[in-house]
Amino acid sequence: MAQVHFDPDRYLELMAEEVPDYERLQEEAAAATAELAPVRRILELGTGTGETARRVLAYHPDAALVGIDASEAMLARACSALPHTDLRVARLEDPLPAGPFDLAVSALAVHHLPGPSKAALFGRIADALRPGGRFVLADVVVPDDPVDEITPIDGIYDVPSRVDEQLGWLAAAGFTPAVAWTQRDLAVLVADR
Ligand SMILES: C[S@@+](CC[C@H](N)C(=O)[O-])C[C@H]1O[C@@H](n2cnc3c(N)ncnc32)[C@H](O)[C@@H]1O
Repeated sequence: MAQVHFDPDRYLELMAEEVPDYERLQEEAAAATAELAPVRRILELGTGTGETARRVLAYHPDAALVGIDASEAMLARACSALPHTDLRVARLEDPLPAGPFDLAVSALAVHHLPGPSKAALFGRIADALRPGGRFVLADVVVPDDPVDEITPIDGIYDVPSRVDEQLGWLAAAGFTPAVAWTQRDLAVLVADR
């Protein structure tokens, strides 16, 4: 899942090749937001072409979504598909858009940050959420058994972490985290503030 793959024209084709359970991961991530209420403001980290945002907004059609992504080209595609969203070119390492948000969600983006940066990001997400707000993290993870390593990982731009490490960083950030779904090297974590 190297950076060169962030070509909006080939994005879904490449995801189908490299993340065979891409659709399931997206559906599980969106479903993990369903029971939260009220959801008026959503923060999305790594919006890309808008695949995750579209599914999450289907559960929360009246919510306003602010999405950030480092790729202007990917966001331009999302902007066409989701014209009523507020999409900003920014990095996950940057200060986050001003909260409070009810829900934060991120799919297949946080694994690009090394462990300490993931932990720092989780703290900034907690600060951006209202009390009772939720963070849903859907991502590639380091599985317990190497035989479950399905997604190509370059170890440079892709630096996934184990589920237990991420649960620990989420708890340290003040969340109550849990595993909502996992399969091989993919996981959806739900973290309530
Ligand atoms: C695999 S795509 C995921 C997009 C969407 N969430 C989905 O699941 O289809 C990863 C996105 O994260 C963005 N990204 C990667 N590293 C980033 C960073 N450090 N800051 C902001 N965006 C980043 C990329 O530009 C890309 O659009």
